[in-house]
Amino acid sequence: MTVFIVTGTQWGDEGKGKIVDILTENVDAVARFQGGNNAGHTIVVGETSFALHVIPSGIIRKKTEVFIGNGVVVDPQQFLEEIEMLRKKGVRVTPDRLKISRRAHVILDYHKNLDNYREEIKTEKIGTTGRGIGPAYEDKVSRTGIRICDLLDRELLFSKISCSLKEKNTLFVNLYNKTPLDAKTLRDKYYETGRKIAPFIAEEGFLLNNMVKKGKSILLEGAQGALLDVDRGTYPFVTSSNTFSTFASMGSGVGSARIKRNIAVMKAYTTRVGEGPFPSCDNGEDGSKLAEKGHEFGTTTGRKRRCGWLDLVALSYVFNLNDYSSVVLSKLDVLSGFPVIKVAIAYELEGRKIDYFPE
Ligand code: IMP
Repeated sequence: MTVFIVTGTQWGDEGKGKIVDILTENVDAVARFQGGNNAGHTIVVGETSFALHVIPSGIIRKKTEVFIGNGVVVDPQQFLEEIEMLRKKGVRVTPDRLKISRRAHVILDYHKNLDNYREEIKTEKIGTTGRGIGPAYEDKVSRTGIRICDLLDRELLFSKISCSLKEKNTLFVNLYNKTPLDAKTLRDKYYETGRKIAPFIAEEGFLLNNMVKKGKSILLEGAQGALLDVDRGTYPFVTSSNTFSTFASMGSGVGSARIKRNIAVMKAYTTRVGEGPFPSCDNGEDGSKLAEKGHEFGTTTGRKRRCGWLDLVALSYVFNLNDYSSVVLSKLDVLSGFPVIKVAIAYELEGRKIDYFPE
């Protein structure tokens, strides 16, 4: 028995999904601890493929319990759609196998709108996934967020949505020149989804810690990659959560001293979706060849990923700050056939050569 973490060391898409899937065979539970439906991967079992964005892929295994932790932001409709899709494909999705934290925050329509409207008018775009992740985390931090448990109280939900819309509608109408949203319509929509989600709501920290006490194994699954961390990544070109492995305890409720192994997933080259610095990016033939051979297209948005060489400067920064106990090197086969394989060992910054990651 053990508790271990699996996270990405680059800008996401390191191949965590595959590693998590392999490791899941030997664990009792999988829990996600950050991010939202901006992440995603496709799991293929025989002839059937499952595209998942919120529910951990461990659900596909017959015995594994899966948890969505407090650190995750959840689009409740996406959550229900994934349950529906899994059930249609013959997966048993029941509340004893799937649990969602009552403390996880909800992504509402106004978060998605805000995410997209902002990107539309920005001159320096972040290239977000447009799923409302950033605005949902903003509301969490500003203490105006709606948690999964709030979906169950119709009056409270209405009051929270109305309060949020006062501010959001002003922006929608006056700044972005868009249509305002109606509080009652949103309340009805989300109260209804809340009723459907209710059986899956749980005290996940308590349950997970009890599992550890009983000697069960738990995998804490990260989304995105370390360099997209809101605190330590390439800010502002980051996602809005903490993607570092050090956040696994906080976002899942599993005591940090209980976590015994910390697995880093590192791709043999580098990719990045969206905007932001990427020093070892190759805009030439090699970059296109990496994209083609590595099938580098986003699962969530289908966007082509920028490709380049392994960046040892960035990796050394990430490895220094995350206490990894082992490393998985993925997609090494993609490099076969390249006569020269490059790695970045230093950067040029304002005419100076530096061998550290500028913070
Ligand atoms: P957001 O998370 O949608 O706000 O997007 C912020 C940045 O993180 C953008 O550059 C996205 O492309 C990137 N991003 C978000 N999720 C993922 C992911 O799962 N893989 C790779 N990049 C991601």
